[in-house]
Amino acid sequence: MKLLSVLALGLVAAASGPAFASADLAQKKNCMACHAIEKKLVGPSYKEIAAKYAGQKDAVEKLSVKVIKGGAGVWGPVPMPANAQVSEAEAKTLVEWVLSQK
Ligand code: HEC
Repeated sequence: MKLLSVLALGLVAAASGPAFASADLAQKKNCMACHAIEKKLVGPSYKEIAAKYAGQKDAVEKLSVKVIKGGAGVWGPVPMPANAQVSEAEAKTLVEWVLSQK
């Protein structure tokens, strides 16, 4: 029993780490309605985005603004509408998470 509860605690700790928190935030903020990690939906997959901006120092700044205000013309004819429900700090967290998908 003791071993089991230690395992359970470990799982809870792992599940509430930063990666999970960001994935959860992306769900809550409706990002996953148009994006998936592995494949293109309405918008590009998060892995494609991470690959495109790999090594660009100002990517987080630039993309955070774009997440909040929306934008178009980088990935194709479909624009991303503004996401006014996302704060600047949340946008940054989300973009850092997107760019960490490999
Ligand atoms: C209504 C659909 C939709 C929703 C909701 C949406 N996106 Fe997008 N997203 C798009 C489309 C379409 C593009 C491609 C825009 C372009 O070509 O410039 C895009 C592009 C992006 C990019 C890359 C921008 C670039 O300039 O390369 C990021 C990062 C991104 N979305 C993150 C998010 C996050 C985070 C959320 C949630 C807050 C979100 N998106 C919600 C449709 C959406």
